[in-house]
Amino acid sequence: MIVYSDIVKQYGSITAVSHLNLEIEKGEIFGLLGPNGAGKTTVMRMTSTLTPPTSGKIFIGGEEIDRDSAAIKNRMGIVPQSSNLEDDLNAWENLEYHGMLYGMNKKDRRKRAEELLDFVGLLDRKNDIARHYSGGMKRKMMIAKALMHRPEIILMDEPTVGLDAAIRRKIWDLIRELHAQGMTVFLTTHYLDEAQMLCTRVGMIHEGRLVKTGTPEEMIREAGRHVLEYYQDGSTHQQFFTERSRALERGNQLSVGFQVRETNLEDVFIRLTNQRLSEKENTLGM
Ligand SMILES: Nc1ncnc2c1ncn2[C@@H]1O[C@H](COP(=O)(O)OP(=O)(O)OP(=O)(O)O)[C@@H](O)[C@H]1O
Ligand SMILES: [Mg+2]
Repeated sequence: MIVYSDIVKQYGSITAVSHLNLEIEKGEIFGLLGPNGAGKTTVMRMTSTLTPPTSGKIFIGGEEIDRDSAAIKNRMGIVPQSSNLEDDLNAWENLEYHGMLYGMNKKDRRKRAEELLDFVGLLDRKNDIARHYSGGMKRKMMIAKALMHRPEIILMDEPTVGLDAAIRRKIWDLIRELHAQGMTVFLTTHYLDEAQMLCTRVGMIHEGRLVKTGTPEEMIREAGRHVLEYYQDGSTHQQFFTERSRALERGNQLSVGFQVRETNLEDVFIRLTNQRLSEKENTLGM
């Protein structure tokens, strides 16, 4: 559905994205994971045609994207990292306005706005202006806005950042519902628990490079399902094991306290970034 073919994005001397090759399938909830500055927003901005790649090509449904293609833009709904709402308009008007820009007729705009305000649970707040919305309400409104023109793909850049636990779960439910309706969801997050819970497949990006892709389950299995964790010589150490008994055995040989628990995506991510750092040190002869 979305294909990235050898994408590079350079900002002066900074390489924000380096040789990205990736295919996102129809109907996936694909999560692009990575720490601050990894290049997630840059990938989203290129996909939504806001900025062109320095080199490489992006295809949506087999068609190469270009800034002027209204047809491609119609296929995507975008939830950016910071608010794209019109602060002085109310919820209803925000959706109406978006629908107008996308050439929807009045009757359809009304029907769709009503349906979406209901979907995100804001029907009773439809006359309040966006400026007065809380962070969670804004994010829900941004999702409704992205969906207004009935796109096939929704791009969400950090859809739950800064939201409390209850609202995050509500947003996860909305995303799952979209997935159930057959929509392709491409999101970024640096919350690894969120990715583990929600995504059918994830990609880990570090310093602009896609380090690994797979289902959360595959990544955990490959690292080892059980992790031994202990603190020694001023740092936290982790070792991965397929068998819990082996992890306990190794732990019992240590002279410090330890814990053995189930591996999660965060452990996998830390393991991958450490591996990359030590590979780099080796090549630099450090
Ligand atoms: N418009 C720009 N001009 C110059 N450098 C930029 C620009 N946009 C991004 N960068 C740089 O590109 C790199 C990747 O940034 P990006 O915003 O894509 O990261 P991110 O993974 O979204 O981070 P975060 O989790 O903090 O949102 C960073 O080094 C950033 O400083
Ligand atoms: Mg970002």
